Amino acid sequence: MAGYLSESDFVMVEEGFTTRDLLEELTLGGPQDEGTSFFVADLGDVVKKHLRFLKNLPRVRPFYVVKCNSSPGVLRALAELGLGFSCANKAEMELLRHIGVPAHKIIYTSPCKQAAQVKQAARLGIRMLSFDNEVELAKVARSHPTARMVLRIATDDSCSPARLSMKLGATLKSCRHLLETAKKMNMEVVGVSFHVGSGCSSDPQAFTQSIADARLVFEMGTELGYRMHILDLGGGFPGTEDSKVRFEEMASVINSALDMYFPEGCGVDILAEPGRYYVASAFTLAVRIVAKKEVPSDQTGLDEEDGASPKSIVYHISEGVYGAFNCVFFDNACPMPILQKKPSPDQRVYSSSLWGPTCDDLDHVAEGLCLPELQLGDWLIFENMGAYTVGTTASCSGQQTCQTTYAMSRVTWEAVRGRLLPPEEDTEDMCKPLSCGWEIADTLCVGPVFAPTSII
Ligand SMILES: Cc1ncc(COP(=O)(O)O)c(C=O)c1O
Repeated sequence: MAGYLSESDFVMVEEGFTTRDLLEELTLGGPQDEGTSFFVADLGDVVKKHLRFLKNLPRVRPFYVVKCNSSPGVLRALAELGLGFSCANKAEMELLRHIGVPAHKIIYTSPCKQAAQVKQAARLGIRMLSFDNEVELAKVARSHPTARMVLRIATDDSCSPARLSMKLGATLKSCRHLLETAKKMNMEVVGVSFHVGSGCSSDPQAFTQSIADARLVFEMGTELGYRMHILDLGGGFPGTEDSKVRFEEMASVINSALDMYFPEGCGVDILAEPGRYYVASAFTLAVRIVAKKEVPSDQTGLDEEDGASPKSIVYHISEGVYGAFNCVFFDNACPMPILQKKPSPDQRVYSSSLWGPTCDDLDHVAEGLCLPELQLGDWLIFENMGAYTVGTTASCSGQQTCQTTYAMSRVTWEAVRGRLLPPEEDTEDMCKPLSCGWEIADTLCVGPVFAPTSII
């Protein structure tokens, strides 16, 4: 057991206990302040995801992307499981070092970095950095000459809602020149990375094309005398079960492409930088109605004869887009609430919109929802809220608004503590495969996630 996570970091629950049970206890028994919002994070779900990753992508070593959700419980749980981490800035690197994650398990993958942050990486002993242009290369050569550079290539991410290759990644055409420039600067280039785009990528073939492109860049590098030995597949893995492509399907396409272009025994270590895959489904958010206003139909333009309701209702809730719902801006999310109080089937519904607690007209969380009339203080529950919501979450005053209650079942905790997962050897060799605990995945991957009847 690595010691990053301890029993005091989470609520231990027993067999049969669900996230909803915990939410119920916290909403009914918790603080009665109407401005309250909070997350419940199922760390068992995170563990399950990890086992599923190892089972389906046995050759790939995951480096979790910190910016996706930097909450301490998640980082500690993932560190405990032996994952590496991918950082985009100094604050993330420092957060990981504070938790005790060793430098060799951290990669700095933002291709556009401030010089001060490159120096910080050098000071912390973080050696693997990305680049996609000459200016960046020169910056790293000056501030961190012993860095091991990974060349990020652009991909066809046209099927992804978050198209990162629009601004990041070198074209295949420019790679030879960049590799030659790196040689002149005496920089070591050790591999290639890409990112097929974040968020419900609908075309797993984007991975095949990018892996094939990476092979070409490896050949260029080898011709120029580099020992290229790292392939980083980036992120883009689905985080929820309602995504267009299942994780297993994506993994199967990736495995076939790896077998074709980077077959086992070729001496190349395969990494990936999953973000939402690990955390999206683990987090559930509970918010309250803090204010409401009825808008008569003559102001909404709705006509009662069409069967529409005579009014619509505007609700203000305790979190908005400047807090946990920043995923509406940054991740194209369309939050859909579940009502804590179940409505009766004959209750009339009204067209409703949800707004955050600020007076800003951009603080608009959801529109066109059909909801029964809600009361001040009622709770709304939002599932699948783990990706790009936490960590960046701060109110206008810069305060963290939402508390997170972490939970894990005893069975899962026993597995994490090493009773079922083989212990990980902590070596400096970042190319070694992770301990394969996947054989217990099937045992843990049975619902309900929380496993007996009360919080201990
Ligand atoms: C370099 C890099 N890697 C990985 C990710 C994670 O993507 P996802 O959350 O889709 O897995 C991102 C997200 O933007 C990224 O910029």
